[in-house]
Amino acid sequence: MHNIMSLIHDKNPYEDFPYKNFELNKHGWGGNLPIFREFIDKYQPPVIIEVGSWLGQSTMNMATHIKNNGLNTKIIAIDTWLGGEEHWQVSKYKDMLKLHYGYPQLYYQFLANVMHTGVQDIIVPFPVPSVIGARFLSQRGIKSNMIYIDASHAEIDVYMDLIHFQPLLTNSNWVMFGDDYEPGWQSVVDAVDKFGKETGLQVEDHNKVWVIRD
Ligand SMILES: C[S@@+](CC[C@H](N)C(=O)[O-])C[C@H]1O[C@@H](n2cnc3c(N)ncnc32)[C@H](O)[C@@H]1O
Repeated sequence: MHNIMSLIHDKNPYEDFPYKNFELNKHGWGGNLPIFREFIDKYQPPVIIEVGSWLGQSTMNMATHIKNNGLNTKIIAIDTWLGGEEHWQVSKYKDMLKLHYGYPQLYYQFLANVMHTGVQDIIVPFPVPSVIGARFLSQRGIKSNMIYIDASHAEIDVYMDLIHFQPLLTNSNWVMFGDDYEPGWQSVVDAVDKFGKETGLQVEDHNKVWVIRD
């Protein structure tokens, strides 16, 4: 196991996982945008932290680009794989949770998707609430110069994610960005703008993707 994997897992979570029992399912939101690949090219991150992965559309977009370019980047994918409130409220998304005795099975579909795509050497799944993930990584001295925030879209949660992940950024040449910076997600806009105002960091709008960088 590589260092980042063994920092989180005692046993490789992909080992013996019967991924062929699952069909590839690349459902997601905004995960295929070119901005992920552009930022990897520009920032050459050794470690990417993704907060909110769902079935891994954005994670696999990045990992495939990393693989195609022969980079040594690892991605830490943090998600509870339990869904946000919109996934429990909208029936088509609730169906995708595939409740098993009332408990979502998204994590297993994520693992299977990663293995179908052949990028399990790049993606490290970390199935915890975002702020717990941030504290765990912070306590272990992990830093990243590319952090993607796309977990809960409630204003307080987005704001807390920004506050908790900012200390994990490297001193320079970093980017933190996220999806749904648009009127349909006023909660995201308000949280990011509040964070920008309080920190004095400029918020850029890249066609509904918010970007903050040094
Ligand atoms: C919008 S989806 C992520 C979409 C994904 N980036 C893509 O490309 O399709 C949001 C994800 O955040 C996760 N999530 C919500 N609240 C969370 C929290 N507090 N901690 C960790 N994950 C959370 C949900 O389980 C869900 O999978």
